[in-house]
Amino acid sequence: MAALASGRGTNLQALLDASGRAGALFEVVVVISDKPQAQALERAAKAGVETVVVQKKEHPTRGQFDEAMALAAKGRGAQLVCLAGFMRVLSPTFLSRFRGRVINIHPSLLPSFPGLDAQRQALEYGVKVTGCTVHFVDEGVDTGPVIMQIPVEVAPEDTEETLGARILAREHMAYVKSVEMIAEGRIPFPHPSLSQAPERGQ
Ligand code: GRF
Repeated sequence: MAALASGRGTNLQALLDASGRAGALFEVVVVISDKPQAQALERAAKAGVETVVVQKKEHPTRGQFDEAMALAAKGRGAQLVCLAGFMRVLSPTFLSRFRGRVINIHPSLLPSFPGLDAQRQALEYGVKVTGCTVHFVDEGVDTGPVIMQIPVEVAPEDTEETLGARILAREHMAYVKSVEMIAEGRIPFPHPSLSQAPERGQ
C-alpha cells in the first residue's frame, strides 16, 4: 500500500507498526505528502519506508498535482492507497488511476459529521455516541462505501481533546484491521461500485 499524509501521522504509525510485525499481511511501499514538514514523513523514514513530497505549488493544475502523486504510488507497485490525515480532496484524475482502491479514515460515524472538526461537530450536536469510520473513497468529501466503524461513547465532561483522543485510539485499530481484511480478501476489492470506468459521455 501507499499512504498519503499531510500531518502528524499517528494512523500512518499504526499502519507502519503493523506492517513491520512478523507475519504482516501488507507492506507500506511509499509515503507521499503534500507538506515537506509533515511529521508523517519522519515516521516513514524512521521505519525505513521511502518518502515522496509532491507540492501543489510545483504543479500548475490540480490534475497534474494528482497525477504526480498517483505516479509516485503506481511506480512503487501500490495496490491500495490509504489516506492517513491527507488534507486535500483527491480529484477524479487520482481516483481514475486507483479505481475502488483508495480508502480513508474519518473521526465520526459517517454519514454524520463529515469534513473538518468532526469531533467538535459531534460535541456541538450533543450526540451520545460517535466514533470512527474507514471507507472507500469516491469523489465526494468523506463519502463512499463503509468498510468498518467503531463507536465511541461521548461522556458529559468530554472536550474536543478528550473525545478526540479516545476516537483516535479506535482509529488506529480500525485502520489496521481494515487493511488486513482487504489483504485477506475479506472485503470486496477493488470495491465493485467504484471500480468501473464511467461510460463515455457521462
Ligand atoms: C485523523 O483523525 C483521521 O481520522 C483524519 O485526520 C486525522 C489524522 O490524524 N482523517 P493522524 O495524522 O493520523 O494522527
